[in-house]
Amino acid sequence: MEIEPLKQAALAELRGAADLAALERAKGTWLGPQGKFTAAMKQLGALPREERPAAGKQINQAKAELETALSERRAELELKSALPKEAADFTLPGRRRSLGKLHPLTQVTEDIVRSFRKLGFAVADGPEVEDEYHCFDALNTPVDHPARDTQDTFYLNLAGAEGADEKTLLRTHTSSVQIRVMEKQRPPVRIIVPGRVYRRDNPDATHNPTFQQIEGLYVDRGVTVGDLKGTVEFVFKELLGEEIKIRFRPHYFSYTEPSFEIDFSSALTRKMGKEWLEIAGCGMVHPAVFEKVGYDPEIWTGWAFGFGIERIAMIRYNINDIRLFYENDIRFLRQF
Ligand code: DAH
Repeated sequence: MEIEPLKQAALAELRGAADLAALERAKGTWLGPQGKFTAAMKQLGALPREERPAAGKQINQAKAELETALSERRAELELKSALPKEAADFTLPGRRRSLGKLHPLTQVTEDIVRSFRKLGFAVADGPEVEDEYHCFDALNTPVDHPARDTQDTFYLNLAGAEGADEKTLLRTHTSSVQIRVMEKQRPPVRIIVPGRVYRRDNPDATHNPTFQQIEGLYVDRGVTVGDLKGTVEFVFKELLGEEIKIRFRPHYFSYTEPSFEIDFSSALTRKMGKEWLEIAGCGMVHPAVFEKVGYDPEIWTGWAFGFGIERIAMIRYNINDIRLFYENDIRFLRQF
């Protein structure tokens, strides 16, 4: 039995395999169960006893060499198939990663916050999962007020959870943060609170079950409605242009007295067929609210306001449907 020529032939075929499929075929031909080398091993038994050890050793060495040749060629071929088939053109322009943008509501919020910062307001924050006390009671809201109804508010069923004896809900307005801040801080207070709020509204062009508000609170000695009006006017002019007008109209909120709604007028509202568009609620902080947080209403005065950010963004960008902000359609979002 001539091992050497057999080995040379096998090596030539393995090393010369043009691709991985050819290599696998060569492996089968020589080293597989029906392969020629395997057959040589089987012939060992037919040799005279004294020749067997030497022949066996020779075959094993040859087989090891073939295994090495096989794995070397496999590595070469794998590398070759992983490399690009065509030459790269290094003069082509690079692929630029497209940068995302801030959501229009985030942009408007940041602009509003920037304006208030100029006037010395700090940003405050509070929980979206709120208790009835901070959302309603501490804000002097009577037990039978419609805002507290299960038809209007998302109550949470936290039976068994910690603090479950308190009724918990998704906050209906950012006004709850007024209370949380005043509980922790002595006056004077000058804060704004951007945040998400929730109501049981069916979505339509002007309603969405979740939306964003900005709350403002200013507490000090001798604070007046004139101060409130001047502040609101400054911010809205910065945001929507010098030619806009605002007016205060009497209204009712349980946590302010007197209370107002802020109406807004501009070329755009007139184009929408309305001279005045209501955009915010506000008023002078009610003494009962001060008493709840331990501020002496004989000493401290203050005002507060709250408005919807979507409303402002709709006016600013001339958008006629609030749901567009929440659909995440990239064609809509790219425009801002
Ligand atoms: N919380 C009111 C709302 O969601 C808005 C509001 C009105 C906030 C008067 C205030 C305020 O701080 O004084 O409709």
